[in-house]
Amino acid sequence: MLVSAKEMLDKAKAGKYAVGQFNINNLEWTKAILLTAQENNSPVILGVSEGAGKYMCGYNTVVGMVNGMLETLKITVPVALHLDHGSYEGAKACIEAGFSSIMFDGSHYPIEENIAKTTELIGIAHAKGISVEAEVGAIGGEEDGVIGGGADPKECKMIADLGVDMLAAGIGNIHGKYPANWKGLNFDVLAEIQKLTGTMPLVLHGGTGIPADMIKEAISLGVSKINVNTECQLSFADATRKYIEAGKDLEGKGFDPRKLLAPGFEAIKATVKEKMELFGSIDKA
Ligand code: 13P
Repeated sequence: MLVSAKEMLDKAKAGKYAVGQFNINNLEWTKAILLTAQENNSPVILGVSEGAGKYMCGYNTVVGMVNGMLETLKITVPVALHLDHGSYEGAKACIEAGFSSIMFDGSHYPIEENIAKTTELIGIAHAKGISVEAEVGAIGGEEDGVIGGGADPKECKMIADLGVDMLAAGIGNIHGKYPANWKGLNFDVLAEIQKLTGTMPLVLHGGTGIPADMIKEAISLGVSKINVNTECQLSFADATRKYIEAGKDLEGKGFDPRKLLAPGFEAIKATVKEKMELFGSIDKA
């Protein structure tokens, strides 16, 4: 059964490790991540962006697929199904569809509006036992060109005080690959946010490509959830390309999707395991 992310993240914060949020794109992704979590006795959060939700034929399809897998694969570790960077409408739709956790990304609104919308969604979600992640200080992407330096710790405190279960704050992190001239995470801002928000689990987006020492320092400063998406996509693409370039799809029944997608599936599993080791969530289920 899906669980809210609250308990697993409170435990992670107290135990000084982080739970990985791995974004899903299709059946192979979901199965690879769930099996890896089970094999390593690790809690896990399945992230679904609005775009990926649409691609997978809507939130109801996603909920059905994940619940079916939890049962068939006999998954007993804690699993949360979480909307990633949700809009106000998307968050409501996921609450209705049966997600166990949502992120409302109101970081692009003026802080008053972010507060008002986050407050309303907390009310609806918490009434159903669903956890809520909020965001302050936009987390950029490669397409933005500019990387935001950091969230305002006072605004983080205002949002944390609304009763959110986890808080994402921009501290120089971005989605996708980091550019060669990236200055790294802003640990001074992170330390200030942690000081003001206390036991609130903090979320680090853009987990792909952040060096291990920075991940460890972020965890020591209160990060309890780390989001990874691009890295699984890169491993999957790399393994699939190697299979095709080696002409394996032309040998025997190598074109069968169960064979063609198998190397990518294994590559996702290896990446997820590596991240769980780095985040310290193995054997914490
Ligand atoms: P990456 O794609 O950089 O790993 O970031 C994932 C993420 O933060 C999803 O919210």
